[in-house]
Amino acid sequence: MPRILDGAAIAVAIKQEVAAEVKLLAAQGITPGLAAVLVGNVPASEIYVRSKVQACAELGIYSDLITPSDDITTEAMLDLIATLNSRNEIDGILVQLPLPRQVDAKVLLDAVSPFKDVDGFHPVNAGRLQAGRPALAPCTPAGVIEILRRSEISIAGQHAVVVGRSDIVGKPAAMLLLNQNATVTICHSKTRNLAEITRQADILVAAIGRPGFITPEMVKPGATLIDVGINRLNTREEFDRFFLGNAKREAAFAKRGSVIVGDIDPKAFELSGAYTPVPGGVGLLTIAMLMANTVRAAKMRRGL
Ligand code: GUN
Repeated sequence: MPRILDGAAIAVAIKQEVAAEVKLLAAQGITPGLAAVLVGNVPASEIYVRSKVQACAELGIYSDLITPSDDITTEAMLDLIATLNSRNEIDGILVQLPLPRQVDAKVLLDAVSPFKDVDGFHPVNAGRLQAGRPALAPCTPAGVIEILRRSEISIAGQHAVVVGRSDIVGKPAAMLLLNQNATVTICHSKTRNLAEITRQADILVAAIGRPGFITPEMVKPGATLIDVGINRLNTREEFDRFFLGNAKREAAFAKRGSVIVGDIDPKAFELSGAYTPVPGGVGLLTIAMLMANTVRAAKMRRGL
């Protein structure tokens, strides 16, 4: 039987550690602060940002939620970022993506002070990460490393195959694994003989954004499977493709009219040595790591 890597338990442990650090800082008169910028009314973003603000409240981190309307210009957003960069009670700036089309996301992310870049999206932090220097690392990939580390799954010397090359997940995940001495292969939509490569993976990280893309034939028995995908299935046909005969999921589908599946076909989990479930795996770590990055930024900015 494969081991289920419980994201919820690991997220709780990380948040407890962060809360303890926040207490120590409070004794020195320091309250870490996060500014969350949520533009417009994207429902998924609203849910994520609400969870982020709530996590701050739970851990004793100050938060400021800023909600510009969806017709804001790049210039107005740049003004906002400049203000947040200069506000002393703000240690971390989070600009929730995606942004409306008229806003140039790259220009904005480049304008966030690298010292307050708790998402780890600024090129300075991406560069520091690839140069093996201390950096604020993107939260989801940092969560992947925490899951492996806290589950005592060794990384050094293992062949880690990352499927997906996004700036937010795939690329930084590959860098973090490399910095932990894995042998790393990055695959993507143009990769030839993908299954041949994924079958070599001791650790397979799926971050493609396609439901159940990694099938059982693509997995080496006993491998560790890390599923970063969050895909919503809305139709009976999609549901049946992955969960036909699964009573628990059937109940969820009947109740909500949809279920979530990752980028790995759940049938592939059965042959793994260990895997992160969806939901309940990597997703829960993203917010915990954002909290950890905010406290880290607060300390770094004060030279602690
Ligand atoms: N949108 C989806 N994931 C993320 C994330 O990790 N950070 C931000 N800022 N936006 C996102």
